Amino acid sequence: LAAMAGAAAAQDYPTKPVTIVVPFSAGGPTDTVTRLVAEPMSKSLGQQIVVQNVAGAGGTLAAGQVARARPDGYTVLMHHIGMSTAPSLYKNLPYDPLKDLQTIGLVTDVPMTIIARKDFPPKTLEELVAYVKENKDKLTYANAGIGAASHLCGLLLMKAIGADVTTVPYQGTGPALTDLVGGQVDFMCDQTTNTTGQIKAGEVKAYAVTTKERLKSLPDLPTADEAGLPGFEVSVWHGLYVPAGTPEPVVQKLNAALQAALKDENVASRFAELGTAPVAAELATPEAHKERLSSQIELWRPIIEAAGVMAK
Ligand code: MLT
Repeated sequence: LAAMAGAAAAQDYPTKPVTIVVPFSAGGPTDTVTRLVAEPMSKSLGQQIVVQNVAGAGGTLAAGQVARARPDGYTVLMHHIGMSTAPSLYKNLPYDPLKDLQTIGLVTDVPMTIIARKDFPPKTLEELVAYVKENKDKLTYANAGIGAASHLCGLLLMKAIGADVTTVPYQGTGPALTDLVGGQVDFMCDQTTNTTGQIKAGEVKAYAVTTKERLKSLPDLPTADEAGLPGFEVSVWHGLYVPAGTPEPVVQKLNAALQAALKDENVASRFAELGTAPVAAELATPEAHKERLSSQIELWRPIIEAAGVMAK
């Protein structure tokens, strides 16, 4: 009887507001992407979507919370590349990304930018590398905690530079960027969905974008490869999840709403202004998303192990 009631509930889904949990602070890059797609998703689902920020532990707090939530489609998670780095960074991660969460579909791949407070002395990425090497004991690098995209990019940057600096962890790169603009920290690596406005306004110094090609939205910014860090590439893939065990009709309804949101004109134009784009329809599927997650877990494991940065 309970199974029949569950099946009926799945057919009627959604009959009340749906919450999308964002694992970092409000106003930051993950929050921005989530709120942009939530609007058309809400129209497709015919229900309000509430965006809830559950920041902490580099995004793993929220992921664990959603993994343990009731699998009824009313608690959804937006997460990014951190979903694939956390299993290697945390010894006792309280969830298994592949087993405890069900993928809904990929959303977008966001480029990162290497930026600094606007009065930071180096003028180019090459100068930054030399400066960081020389002044490593005095500098601070902002990130959003172990498991954040800004943490991963910092890890790769320090490895490329061959120096470690003190990191200052925030609940998200929204507040980290505020402090960078205020000059409280020296430099960081953060997604264009957060940094484009400040770069264009000249409120921060930008050295490079971490993609193979330059961006239309920031055409004067060189790629890291062009600017002196050959092969330095990282982009931040995002996807939607529900707890494992969520009924298939619910997964399909959420997926259809995501697919429609990615075709929405406002989403496409705002994404373009922020240096990104919706993924192609064939990537916004549970299968393609799961494939990305498992291949990325394998990709980052040896890199993280070699860096020796296990959290606990
Ligand atoms: C955020 O939304 O604050 C970011 O995605 C944090 C990060 O991963 O660097």
